[in-house]
Amino acid sequence: MTGNVILESRDVGKRFGSFQAVEGVNYRVCEGESVGIIGPNGAGKTTFFNLLTGMFRPSSGSIHYRGQDVSGLSGDRRTALGLVRTFQLVSVFNTLPVIDNLVLAVLRGKPGLVSRCGFLFGRRRPKAVLAACEAALDRVGIDPLVWDQPTANLSYGNKRKLEIAMALALRPAVLLLDEPLAGLSDYEINEVRDLLHQVKRDFTLVIIEHKISRILDLVSRLSVMHEGHLIAEGPVETILADPTVRLVYWGEQQAEPAAANAEGSP
Ligand SMILES: Nc1ncnc2c1ncn2[C@@H]1O[C@H](COP(=O)(O)OP(=O)(O)O)[C@@H](O)[C@H]1O
Ligand SMILES: [Mg+2]
Repeated sequence: MTGNVILESRDVGKRFGSFQAVEGVNYRVCEGESVGIIGPNGAGKTTFFNLLTGMFRPSSGSIHYRGQDVSGLSGDRRTALGLVRTFQLVSVFNTLPVIDNLVLAVLRGKPGLVSRCGFLFGRRRPKAVLAACEAALDRVGIDPLVWDQPTANLSYGNKRKLEIAMALALRPAVLLLDEPLAGLSDYEINEVRDLLHQVKRDFTLVIIEHKISRILDLVSRLSVMHEGHLIAEGPVETILADPTVRLVYWGEQQAEPAAANAEGSP
């Protein structure tokens, strides 16, 4: 890990009633890095993302962004500061035209309530916002022919790309993607992976993924969560060889998996 720390959790925890979903997680991301968070289902990955991005307030510990304690800031406030995330299940408005999903995403991050209402009730697309939205759609490779079509018409893979475009239009400093490849066909996985290879050149990227093999070439560092704890962290090769990680992922008795095929299904 080199460079300036841009995002950090200090001893962060989240409790739901008597259940401790995340506990004592110390985590750092440096500017310009592409990193992965992996772990079995239920490990606490999404909950940890929700703590980083402001959907949940921590039960203990704190979140720091560019040196500032942001633990008390809402998700929208953190988004405005440059901390932008996507969701495990694609989260777009199906009834709106494709382009309007972007316009709404951008307006959501802006304080001007009037322009937001004007857009929602009059469907006037602010020109300055529109240019950023079109650039983002172009960048993720969604055909201009469908920009004015209902979002419901898009394939799941294109909806995922739309969601990434929505995140890009917000000009993130750190982009956090929760299982961006989940639910996609093999063809769509390749397309979105190509897109992420491009995106990572320009942004600090944090990717949650369940299947290790899918992000091996996208990230320089992996952090492994298990039962709410961060159990290992390091370069991809080190993590693949780590006995604790191998136990969690493949079980003690399993033959050694080839790294390239390390699917990571428990
Ligand atoms: N809002 C919630 N209320 C109660 N329990 C939750 C909530 N969100 C997540 N959990 C629980 O926390 C654990 C971790 O979930 P999650 O963070 O979604 O794991 P992962 O993303 O690694 O699959 C799971 O046991 C899940 O049921
Ligand atoms: Mg999850």
